[in-house]
Amino acid sequence: MTQIITSIDTLRDTLSQHRERGQTIGFVPTMGSLHAGHMDLVRACKDACDITVASIFVNPMQFGPNEDFDAYPRTLEADNDKLTAEGADYLFAPTVREMYPHGVNTQIDVPSLANILCGASRPGHFAGVATVVSKLFNIVQPHQAFFGRKDFQQLAVIRQMARDLLMPLSIVGVPTGRADDGLALSSRNAYLTDTERAQAPLLYQSLQSARQRILDGETDFAAIQRDATTALNAAGFRVDYFEVRCAHALSSAGLADTKLVILVAAYLGKARLIDNVELQKP
Ligand code: PAJ
Repeated sequence: MTQIITSIDTLRDTLSQHRERGQTIGFVPTMGSLHAGHMDLVRACKDACDITVASIFVNPMQFGPNEDFDAYPRTLEADNDKLTAEGADYLFAPTVREMYPHGVNTQIDVPSLANILCGASRPGHFAGVATVVSKLFNIVQPHQAFFGRKDFQQLAVIRQMARDLLMPLSIVGVPTGRADDGLALSSRNAYLTDTERAQAPLLYQSLQSARQRILDGETDFAAIQRDATTALNAAGFRVDYFEVRCAHALSSAGLADTKLVILVAAYLGKARLIDNVELQKP
């Protein structure tokens, strides 16, 4: 049984006993509504660490005023069953009051990465993510923390934050879990109607064909971005961005860059979907 803990003090006391016994602690932060992609993180954590701690906290600080904080799916009981089946040891599920007893007075910003791509259309989002993740790190004090490569920019922000603030842990990036038709698993897929769900795999297909064009030697990234955007918009998506970037700094990709990432964010009905593919230029 995964033990649910809602109090910071209780979790700290419990984990310090494991630390005293010399056990390593792995951490998987989430906002719940768990799916197989989250479970890949839990499995990676269990493989690497003695004790697996997951958290579920729908963090108000990372949602904009017109975003889906209230609508975000909350399924704690089903989530705990999944964590139990996977053998996670603890589920930390604090209230907003427990996490922000005095509101937000201090925040962590990573400006070099937080204001581009998703950050450009979601102002303050990555400061909300970085702040809550650093608070969770301070509570759990894990040896390793596991994040999905699906949220590529988020992973870059967390890595940069941990490096810059000398946080004594390692950050592990886990490959994107996908449905059989290629759609990246996401809690927000629950917002899709049946018709939208049938269209949604086009997002990943557009990334794959852009990737293939680059691997085939095409160097006009602007044309690749334009073609994909046009095709997705014509198919009923509303593209926020479709970008070929340097995988390291997330800056615009130049011809000298060999490690690239192609990132997309697009609305389909009510859902804002994101996905990416990485590639190594030959
Ligand atoms: P959430 O969207 O619940 O995601 C929790 C973790 O699961 C993140 O690291 C995310 O990248 C990973 N994940 C989601 N879908 C995935 C998939 N299809 N394959 C692999 N990993 C996947 O991301 C957040 O929550 C929050 O921003 C959080 C980091 C918890 C801070 O509030």
